[in-house]
Amino acid sequence: MCALKLKPHRGKEIKLGVMGSRRGRTFMKNAAPAGLKLVAICDNNSTRLDSMRREYPGVKAYDDYERMLKSGIDAVVLANFAHEHAPFAIMALQHGVHVMSESVACRTLAQGVELARTVENSGRIYMYAENYCYIPVIQEMRRRYRQGAIGTALFCQGEYIHPMSTAQTLALTPGHDHWRNWRASTFYSTHAMGPIMYITGERPVAVNARSVPFPSQDDCGQGLRRGDIFAALMCMMSNQSTCITTGWSGLPGHGNWYRVHGSRGLMENIRERGMGQYLRMVHEPWQMRADEQHEVVYDPPPPIQNAAIQYSGHGGSDFFTSYYFAEAIRKGRQPFLNVYRGLDMTIIGIQGWKSCLDNGNGYEIPDFRKESVRKQHENDHFSVFPQDRCLAPNQPPPSVNGFNEPSAAMKKSAEKTWKQMGFKLNELK
Ligand SMILES: NC(=O)c1ccc[n+]([C@@H]2O[C@H](COP(=O)([O-])OP(=O)(O)OC[C@H]3O[C@@H](n4cnc5c(N)ncnc54)[C@H](O)[C@@H]3O)[C@@H](O)[C@H]2O)c1
Repeated sequence: MCALKLKPHRGKEIKLGVMGSRRGRTFMKNAAPAGLKLVAICDNNSTRLDSMRREYPGVKAYDDYERMLKSGIDAVVLANFAHEHAPFAIMALQHGVHVMSESVACRTLAQGVELARTVENSGRIYMYAENYCYIPVIQEMRRRYRQGAIGTALFCQGEYIHPMSTAQTLALTPGHDHWRNWRASTFYSTHAMGPIMYITGERPVAVNARSVPFPSQDDCGQGLRRGDIFAALMCMMSNQSTCITTGWSGLPGHGNWYRVHGSRGLMENIRERGMGQYLRMVHEPWQMRADEQHEVVYDPPPPIQNAAIQYSGHGGSDFFTSYYFAEAIRKGRQPFLNVYRGLDMTIIGIQGWKSCLDNGNGYEIPDFRKESVRKQHENDHFSVFPQDRCLAPNQPPPSVNGFNEPSAAMKKSAEKTWKQMGFKLNELK
């Protein structure tokens, strides 16, 4: 690692641009409470950009990303397509603009290598916006873990279960080749793994994974998706513990659940719909200290108070990503969710897909903090996405069943949905 020295932000305000205006709206809303000044919005979908112009009349609207980068912004939030974050992050860093990237950090190992190198050479902040780390219950688990409340992590689990109906899937995937229609089941891995890394401070070093295809008989929200409904990833962590996580799972039973079995106790958020805000701690009688009980359940408050926590999404966690991004820029210090951790939690999804297609065999999670390791992966373009077919022969399919083609009836129904949403079909990928 040979990183340029970072400088604290000395300007009066941090001028923010937001790229992408669906998820991006969350960051527009949270900018002011976090101490960022929203000055620019970019989207090349005219329906969405027009709607932003109406909602934020005082903010400059761009349909061209590079023009927004050159407009004098200090920082950008990337809420564009999930498989296109790395090239847009690299371009921003090369323009001297701080970056916060939505999930995921990169779609190939080669992109991950380039991203890590660019961050090091830029002297700018890169934050990976893994918001699930900042649900108040997860922040409390980290605090208690660091105090030694349950000893050393031995076995962890992280689940991101987000089922959708077919109608919801079609609305969320505008465009036949929208990234959500091509992603492999392991790909969106960071919501499940991120909080475990945040709590324990460990990183994944190897993965074995298995993927489960969509069943044909029930409405599990397949829509135009070519990938599978679920994947289980079993990771070896840097302290030799085991962690089982999901990608984005479409199984019924919406919720996020994180469990850490330590050498001296267990902590988990209680499984319930949504964010699971209650923390459960268990100590066996022979391991209890004087101030501990066998079992405690409580609802931890957020570590800092801000009115925005009440209305910001995902259990208040969305406020914190913007807040810690602004803090990192103000202080001139890379955040905890730096580029390396963003890559670690992303890459289990890429290597995990290799494992799924290889009978569950183990794959290493390369550590891109080291240039010698990066060198070995700088030409690895393994990718399920159609635009990468020209980069390598025999690119993998997005399902363990191979290349599925959606039915003509489903394609027609999708186009009807998108037209009803006001989209121009020629603008959709
Ligand atoms: N952390 C979370 O809880 C959470 C929730 C939802 C989405 N996300 C992430 O947010 C990102 C965006 O997802 P989304 O739900 O908004 O859907 P999306 O990916 O369909 O929307 C992306 C938006 O970016 C715009 N865009 C894409 N490429 C562009 C370009 N080159 N120039 C200008 N605009 C461009 C699109 O027109 C679209 O409006 C994804 O990375 C997704 O993973 C995260």
